[in-house]
Amino acid sequence: MERKAYGLTGKNIFLIGFMGSGKTTVASYLGKAYQMKTTEMDGAISEQEGMSIPDIFALHGEEYFRRLETAFLIELRQEKGVVVSCGGGVPMRSENVAEMKKNGRVILLEASPETIYERVKDSNDRPLLEGNKNIAYIAELMGKRKEKYEAAADIVIETDGKKVSVIGEEIMRKVLELEQEKKEHEGRGKEN
Ligand code: S3P
Repeated sequence: MERKAYGLTGKNIFLIGFMGSGKTTVASYLGKAYQMKTTEMDGAISEQEGMSIPDIFALHGEEYFRRLETAFLIELRQEKGVVVSCGGGVPMRSENVAEMKKNGRVILLEASPETIYERVKDSNDRPLLEGNKNIAYIAELMGKRKEKYEAAADIVIETDGKKVSVIGEEIMRKVLELEQEKKEHEGRGKEN
């Protein structure tokens, strides 16, 4: 059954998290279940550049790719009600976090290094994991990113062992609760 995300007026939903944390799958669930537009940053950037993410890294370097990510977020300022599946490195730049916060809520999807490993082990489209596809490396990189990921997040969702529908519903419930809280808070502000 399709439902509309009533109460989410004017906001985008940014899904952040480590590579393989399920951002794209969850975005696609939310898009279908709540009739929201979805966009996947890596896919959009790759299409725009006419080449794969590994080719962008190889040809232009990581810094160039990171600038494309920021430019993509700036373009999203105009959008409303879009579910955005972000690349895993997006929350590492403070300007990206500031962009996401301007017109959206930021949802962090967490998963264990073991779960991540299972999801990424057979793919070759993530340059940062090439030659490093093992649980120890994933855990180490995750540890380095943890603080920034958590600081960027409005809501944190633990995903290990949960079905995508359960994750999607948990996100929507928490986002709508947050909107309600903000509205009440603003209302109280006006009274005083
Ligand atoms: C990256 C994550 C990838 C992609 C690029 C770099 C990262 O996206 O943007 O390979 O720095 O974590 P996914 O998180 O969608 O795999």
